[in-house]
Amino acid sequence: VRLAIFISGRGSNMKTLVQACLDEGFAKPVLILSNSYSAAGLEWATENDLPIAAIDHRAYDDRESFEKDVQDTLELHNVEFIALAGFMRVLTPWFTDQWEGRMINIHPSLLPKYPGLHTHKRAIEAGDKEAGCSVHWVTAGVDEGAVIDQERVEIMPNDTPDALAERVLEREHFLYPRALQKAISDFLVRELQNEAD
Ligand code: GRF
Repeated sequence: VRLAIFISGRGSNMKTLVQACLDEGFAKPVLILSNSYSAAGLEWATENDLPIAAIDHRAYDDRESFEKDVQDTLELHNVEFIALAGFMRVLTPWFTDQWEGRMINIHPSLLPKYPGLHTHKRAIEAGDKEAGCSVHWVTAGVDEGAVIDQERVEIMPNDTPDALAERVLEREHFLYPRALQKAISDFLVRELQNEAD
């Protein structure tokens, strides 16, 4: 399966996905796409001989024209499956509908709790005993698609959002490769069924 990974920043989750693909061979990373030229993850991708594309959303008047260029780039690279990994743009239904069942995301909370931003701060302020991370299918509603898999992290007394984020990130690196593999095998089973119908 030809995989694109979308990033906006440091790309630590992208690295673990690329590594898992190389180790286990369940997908081939054919494109690392960023909406920011300065994403640190792009440098790592280049050093590791992965094709990259940087498409700056600020150069576009609206979300759909940005997404049309993203879509053209995906088609150019014959991408079949997308993993969002710290990609900080909200995608419109125009894009999510055509990738439904072929696009997943990692989110730093135990969904359906805390969609959106500042998840760790919100979990601590709510007095939660645990936090975590989820990998889910991407649908038009932000962080709303079905959860594929999760990892849990205990919230300590006097925890800070940064300290918690660091511990959750460790679990993200463990969770995401496993969840990607599962999502891709679900996708392949569905493809085979469609062919048989
Ligand atoms: C991760 O915490 C991810 O869950 C969130 O953004 C962060 C990205 O980190 N959506 P990285 O770029 O993968 O290092």
